[in-house]
Amino acid sequence: MKRDLIAIGDLSDRDILRLIAQAGDIAADPKAFSRALDGALLATLFLEPSTRTRLSFEAAMLRLGGRVITSADPKTSSAAKGETLADSIRMIGAYADAIVLRHPHAGAARLAARLSPVPVVNAGDGGHEHPTQTLVDLFTLVREKGRLDGLFVVLYGDLRFGRTTHSLARALTRFGATVLALSEPGLHLPDYVLDGVRQAGGSVADVEVSGLEGLVGGRPRGTLLAPPGRAVGNATLFLAPDQVDALYVTRLQKERLPSGSGGLRALPLIDRVFLEAAPFRRAVVLHPLPRVDEIHRTLDDDPRAAYFRQAAAGVPMRMAILGAVLGAFPPLEAPPTGPAPVLDAPPCGESACIAATEPHAVPAEAFAAPDGRLRCAWCEHPLD
Ligand code: NCD
Repeated sequence: MKRDLIAIGDLSDRDILRLIAQAGDIAADPKAFSRALDGALLATLFLEPSTRTRLSFEAAMLRLGGRVITSADPKTSSAAKGETLADSIRMIGAYADAIVLRHPHAGAARLAARLSPVPVVNAGDGGHEHPTQTLVDLFTLVREKGRLDGLFVVLYGDLRFGRTTHSLARALTRFGATVLALSEPGLHLPDYVLDGVRQAGGSVADVEVSGLEGLVGGRPRGTLLAPPGRAVGNATLFLAPDQVDALYVTRLQKERLPSGSGGLRALPLIDRVFLEAAPFRRAVVLHPLPRVDEIHRTLDDDPRAAYFRQAAAGVPMRMAILGAVLGAFPPLEAPPTGPAPVLDAPPCGESACIAATEPHAVPAEAFAAPDGRLRCAWCEHPLD
């Protein structure tokens, strides 16, 4: 049976820990794996801009001895002629042994996985999820901090339209880390991410954050996500000196902002002055990249600036992922069955959901969230 990688929640804790260990083995001796996927062929289909994700997947495949075909420019792919994703995938699934897909619409990778005879790996589906970036982020945190359990991680920036933090917040709390989400007003983590944390036994609280006075101007409000077994209680969170292990910065996702949201106030720039504040002195700075203007360039040679090491970790981690889905390494476990689907769901109204853009290929499917509301099974947004 083929095994796709669509969402971080499709992976068991054991899968994630095994991928991190495998990526570590590969990073320690990459040459030992140079024939692991001899003769296998990967197709990369990127219908949204990418530099790192596509090149690191392709480098990973080549470094495992495999080969790559690519369609990297949406303007020169048949999507520009009006071809549906469903049709593209039916063909590409006949050309290659696995497909890595990036697509502007949430749920696209799940649709591709349903239609493709070969494994599909989600390299970003609209503003929804980016599970392989999360695996790179977790691998980087383990290398930088030696563990995930007990870490305190601040997510900082556009947490609504940035997909990387949607996968990362859910994964970190599963592994015992506490997450403080600080975002531009109006760009908070979506409810479905908070639901995911609760469903895994964690807890969520709105907090006023003290300890950043002078940096952020007063006491900002944030969302605290605590792992299972660690309750969040107080309405005020006092950030202690050296409390923050990692500061994960994201850019404003301008390409996904609804029209009329031009006046958004950006959070302060991350620079040396910011990192001198007592809570951040030991924090490594991560960023999925591309950086636009969230992190000052003078920080790049600070030992705490880990974002280029994080980007480099993309190759061994994606070697581990491709080896697992293409059978060179032990396979991933079967994904959990998830909540029972709700029959006769109303259609999804999200314009950036694959259910809205390819309705002929996508049946309306929903599941009930913990609060009883129906959510679209493709993009996880509420259906009411
Ligand atoms: C991210 C993405 O595409 O979601 N980049 C990446 O894959 N490393 C983040 C971003 O574009 O801001």
